[in-house]
Amino acid sequence: MSLYSKIGKGLLFQFDAERAHGLSIRGLQAGLHPRFDAAFDPRLSVDIAGLKFTNPLGMAAGYDKNADVPGALLALGFGHTEVGTVTPLPQPGNPKPRIFRLKEDKAVINRLGFNSKGHSSALAQLKRRSSRSGIVGINIGANKTSEDFGGDYVTGIEAFGAVADYFTVNISSPNTPGLRALQGADPLTDLLHRVDEAVEKTGRKTPVFLKIAPDLTENEMDDIAKAVLNSNINALIVSNTTLARNGLKSGAVAQEVGGLSGAPLFERSTIVLAKTHQRLEGKVPLVGVGGVNSLDTAWQKIEAGASLVQLYTGLVYEGPTLPKTILTGMSKMLDKEQLPSIKHVCARRVDDWAKKDLLTN
Ligand SMILES: Cc1cc2nc3c(=O)[nH]c(=O)nc-3n(C[C@H](O)[C@H](O)[C@H](O)COP(=O)(O)O)c2cc1C
Repeated sequence: MSLYSKIGKGLLFQFDAERAHGLSIRGLQAGLHPRFDAAFDPRLSVDIAGLKFTNPLGMAAGYDKNADVPGALLALGFGHTEVGTVTPLPQPGNPKPRIFRLKEDKAVINRLGFNSKGHSSALAQLKRRSSRSGIVGINIGANKTSEDFGGDYVTGIEAFGAVADYFTVNISSPNTPGLRALQGADPLTDLLHRVDEAVEKTGRKTPVFLKIAPDLTENEMDDIAKAVLNSNINALIVSNTTLARNGLKSGAVAQEVGGLSGAPLFERSTIVLAKTHQRLEGKVPLVGVGGVNSLDTAWQKIEAGASLVQLYTGLVYEGPTLPKTILTGMSKMLDKEQLPSIKHVCARRVDDWAKKDLLTN
């Protein structure tokens, strides 16, 4: 049992979820965290989108919204971390309470609504970074009151063009009214065109990832795949939180409005990952997110088609040594299966996952 399971979690869980999140950020800022110092296993390195990731595991967006702790997150062992979602102007997000733990389900519901200190604050933080090692992506979004959501993504690319290793265009948060409509065929084609032009104007070929929802119909997945294949998008992140509430053990709290993350999202997000992989025919790499909280769940994401894996809620329940547990476990799995690299695991079970039924998950 880790120190976190014995003491840290008990302490943090005494506070409401948002306060605990703030305390954990402060702990990381103060250096009160484990470090994964071992040399990275070269068999775990992943090259996608013109970037070299030392390992396939990344910190998902939403934890470090304002770029307070990218260095500390990378020190836990993550090969990359995703800052944001950052909105152009500062905005407070929805009224509190707005993050809820579903302990019996190892899950979280949040309806933060893009609380953000805005572009200029995150940019200042990123410029202050002492070390530039490790991959830091910037997840960009739109202000709630914006009259042109697409324009806010363009502004994000202009603002962070010099510091982002990659951009994530997040059009899948369920907590900003109207945002998910950008996933529709025409609005998406238009948005990706504008994004493309904005990246071109920066003069750097910063890769762009697109983050989608797990609550899509087969037709909607078709439309997204078509728009992505006709664009310069470098990777797809599957997925954000879900509006579904199937099979939860937690009582009344499970009915809170917002996006559900953690263990109950694993099945659904992995099915959508595999279905997306089939549609993109391996032409666009995927990042698998949703319910990863162990070696086994990370491994299954890769088998279902993910080149990279991200997690957030798993860290809340399993603690800061989770990246180390997963990465050392992956090396052992490669030994056991006598495989030369993690690439040989990628997508070997896409069809098994893609044929599962979304309606029951
Ligand atoms: C409290 C909280 C805040 C989040 N905020 C964001 C966000 O700002 N932008 C985003 O793209 N995803 C956000 N997410 C979604 C995560 O990045 C991830 O896609 C989702 O939680 C599924 O992964 P998990 O089950 O490992 O948590 C948030 C998730 C949580 C739990």
